[in-house]
Amino acid sequence: MKRFMEKILVVGGAGLVGDALVRAWEKRGVQVLAADCCPELGPGMIRLDMRDENEVRAVLAQVGPGVVAVPAANPHVDYCELHPEETRRVNVAGTLNLARACREHGARMIFYSSDYVFDGCRGAYGEDDAVCPLNEYGHQKAEAEAGVLAADARNLVIRTASVYGWQIAPKNFALQVMRKLAAGESLQAACDARGSPTYVENLAEVTVELAACGAAGVFHVVGADHLLRHEFALLVARAFGLAEALLHPVSCAQFRGVAPRPRDAVLRTGKAQAVVAIPLLGARAGLERMRAFEKEWRAHAAARLAPI
Ligand SMILES: NC(=O)c1ccc[n+]([C@@H]2O[C@H](COP(=O)([O-])OP(=O)(O)OC[C@H]3O[C@@H](n4cnc5c(N)ncnc54)[C@H](OP(=O)(O)O)[C@@H]3O)[C@@H](O)[C@H]2O)c1
Repeated sequence: MKRFMEKILVVGGAGLVGDALVRAWEKRGVQVLAADCCPELGPGMIRLDMRDENEVRAVLAQVGPGVVAVPAANPHVDYCELHPEETRRVNVAGTLNLARACREHGARMIFYSSDYVFDGCRGAYGEDDAVCPLNEYGHQKAEAEAGVLAADARNLVIRTASVYGWQIAPKNFALQVMRKLAAGESLQAACDARGSPTYVENLAEVTVELAACGAAGVFHVVGADHLLRHEFALLVARAFGLAEALLHPVSCAQFRGVAPRPRDAVLRTGKAQAVVAIPLLGARAGLERMRAFEKEWRAHAAARLAPI
């Protein structure tokens, strides 16, 4: 493992990926600060709305980070489709505010992008394949990626997909499956859309290692499996001892999502795996780690939610 001496700022540090990043860097003994604009900031977090360029500059000047990781976004695909101007102010303009401020302050930036920069017609996309988004969210991510890479050749873009793990606001698919099945409710899951479920703690530890290596450019970091959404839901049910019979396979056409979604935007990960020794986990191994982590997570969540 490489040593890492620079101070880190995680913008979006209260979210699913951001919270795991902060813990992963803390575990390595690195000085790390979190910023976010969500209403409930945890202890020590800095309030920052990345849409405000002056605020962004002021926070970077105050913190003086060597690396700024940016999982902050509006990642709600249908909301982006319905509100393109509002969400562009976060996902594109906000990201580029950070990219400019990082350049001014000599900091490297790590930006999180998505498999949705591809249309999913072909699958097995590599980092050098041309982007071809199907929906507004994918277009926003592709535009932000290009701006981040143009701002500084040292910047890193990590494309990930279907991230799952413990989360204070239980929004990710694995937690939705668990909540529904634990309540005895049935759940429909697509049996004709494939993805690579990515355990958030694994994404965070691989990010820490890529950053420590000084990796720059685009890297794909997703779980090792290539699963139908229904198959992943079954694995979640099995891992947590919940009723598989409540899960019903349906075709994508039966969902009334607003934005079109890629059917098979699986990303190749050989580039990241050639640089980082930590393996990208398949869904069974990721869910097993998630189950083993539950007690530690609950203690962490209680501390984060404690009144400041
Ligand atoms: N989760 C996935 O499955 C997935 C898959 C592919 C790519 N990604 C990408 O990975 C990144 C992290 O995703 P995530 O699941 O961790 O998202 P998340 O849980 O929604 O976290 C994003 C955080 O950014 C904050 N934020 C939103 N607007 C902001 C602003 N203007 N200034 C500062 N902070 C702001 C959010 O606050 P509020 O909650 O208050 O808005 C939230 O705390 C995103 O870029 C996403 O597009 C995620």
